[in-house]
Amino acid sequence: MTSQPSIHAQKQSKITPKHAAFDFNKYRPFAFTPKLIDRTWPDKTIDSAPIWASVDLRDGNQALIDPMTIEQKMRFFKLLVEVGFKEIEIGFPSAAQVEFDFTRKLIEEGHVPEDVTLQVLVQAREHLIKRTFESLKGAKRAIVHVYNSTSRVQRDKVYGKSFDEIKQIAVEGATLLKQYAAQYPETEWVFQYSPESFSQTETDFAIEVCEAVCAVWQPASGQGVIINLPATVEASTPNIFADQVEYFCRHLSCRKDVIISLHTHNDRGCGIAAAELGLMAGADRIEGTLLGNGERTGNMDIMVMAMNLFSQGVDPELDFSNMSEIVQVVSECNNLPLHPRHPYVGELVFTAFSGSHQDAIKKSLDYNEQNAEITSNHWDVAYLPIDPAHIGRSYQDVVRINSQSGKGGVAYILQRNYGFNLPRWMQIDFSRVVQNQAEKVARELQNEEILQTFENTYLQQSDYELLDYSVNNKGGEVQFVGQIKAFGEIVDIQGVGNGPLSSFIDGLAKYSGCALHVINYAEHAISPHHLNYDESEIDTDRENKTNASAAAYIQLNVDSQIYSGIGTCTSTVSAMLKGALSAMAQAPTTSPI
Ligand code: KIV
Ligand code: ZN
Repeated sequence: MTSQPSIHAQKQSKITPKHAAFDFNKYRPFAFTPKLIDRTWPDKTIDSAPIWASVDLRDGNQALIDPMTIEQKMRFFKLLVEVGFKEIEIGFPSAAQVEFDFTRKLIEEGHVPEDVTLQVLVQAREHLIKRTFESLKGAKRAIVHVYNSTSRVQRDKVYGKSFDEIKQIAVEGATLLKQYAAQYPETEWVFQYSPESFSQTETDFAIEVCEAVCAVWQPASGQGVIINLPATVEASTPNIFADQVEYFCRHLSCRKDVIISLHTHNDRGCGIAAAELGLMAGADRIEGTLLGNGERTGNMDIMVMAMNLFSQGVDPELDFSNMSEIVQVVSECNNLPLHPRHPYVGELVFTAFSGSHQDAIKKSLDYNEQNAEITSNHWDVAYLPIDPAHIGRSYQDVVRINSQSGKGGVAYILQRNYGFNLPRWMQIDFSRVVQNQAEKVARELQNEEILQTFENTYLQQSDYELLDYSVNNKGGEVQFVGQIKAFGEIVDIQGVGNGPLSSFIDGLAKYSGCALHVINYAEHAISPHHLNYDESEIDTDRENKTNASAAAYIQLNVDSQIYSGIGTCTSTVSAMLKGALSAMAQAPTTSPI
């Protein structure tokens, strides 16, 4: 029997493509959607982890430019065991000597933990099945995975076989597995069958084939059976795949006696979504690879799906806390780089460059810190789906500064790394300085550069230096008497006011001839954790900051222009006076003529 494609009338394009070959009329809508009007999967949630099966060493390996060596496979296998996989498809032993040898090595050298089951793939052909069983001799428990293509395109164009002939291939494969397994009774055998390209097969036909396979294997009698449903090439939206899975599960007569497994690929970029919806639609098990390597656009990425569960408060039953090592082993074995925006692990995925994002992250983190009892310590931070610390990433990764960044991000860096808690008006002032610098260098600024800019702008008052001073309170009037160094000269300053700052400002105004008013003022202790923040780099110029335990921020009106300054010192009063000098130093000319 041969199925015929339906004919579609040509449609006119609404755009004028540059190349005539860019012709959507070449394609037809997806044709294998089963009729399922009472689907139940949309109302389901995923509240426990599926059985995970890694196919990195088989499907992933098959897709590499240079397939893995035995040593690389061993390194990868050990990683998969460490991450917590209990079912691992280790290869295609009948396809290549290295695959056979690796299987033997694992078994003979005892590398397979008690609770881990090896899985191997084989086509439904006798000489390959025979060799496959030989490769597994001595295994305690093993899954033999047999497959044949059932899709319309494969039936019609690749094999030129009818529905019945295709079904017969599957039945013969199933029968051979049963026969060969009987020759190795010391091993507990689990049989797995995949109607390859399930998602591009008429679902009723896929069910018919799987019924025939199950009739051979008799899962109800206790034989372990996995029916694996591959989206070999992803060809529809994930909701359609979910319909296919639900329809399949509802119509397979031995459903309760078998494990339903899914194996999705990522051709439309939805491999993980399809697996997730398929799980909601009734599947028990998911096959995939770490970081999504696999044929063409890859297999579904098990790490991402597991982390999706993790981020919803569901135990993924896989341990990704050591993510950097996982990424290193996987990328080295696959010899493939990781995209910087790869979900959960890419270099940039916890990074916010945009000012509004940085601001929101800082506010959320500050809120959580101050309201731990209200939030019950649950993670709920704008723009960060998980706490980067859970996978070994530091908060330093989170906020990075370029010309798109705003005051929140810069303030975050100074606060988290160096203990400077800038008031809002100071954040605005400094973010302008940082933005100018980022534009000038046309690249991201490192934390140390931001600190350096901060110091150069506010803390190294080259034109002014506070020397000696005393403040006396006489009946409510505070008198300031002291000396500063201004433009290289030692100058006496005397002033009166209602506090040390106002009396100092009064003295500065008299000296400079400028009209001076304090607009804003803030101060805080620098936490001991941040003192000596740059001890390793201390030089004499920085002496005053490394010994500081107080920071003061001042906004000064100098002849109707506003300038901001910062002072740090062991004493709050000195920090405040230095802050005033720092603000003075921002003004273009404050030296008396
Ligand atoms: O993608 C696929 O269909 C496969 C099968 C062999 C399961 O890898
Ligand atoms: Zn595959």
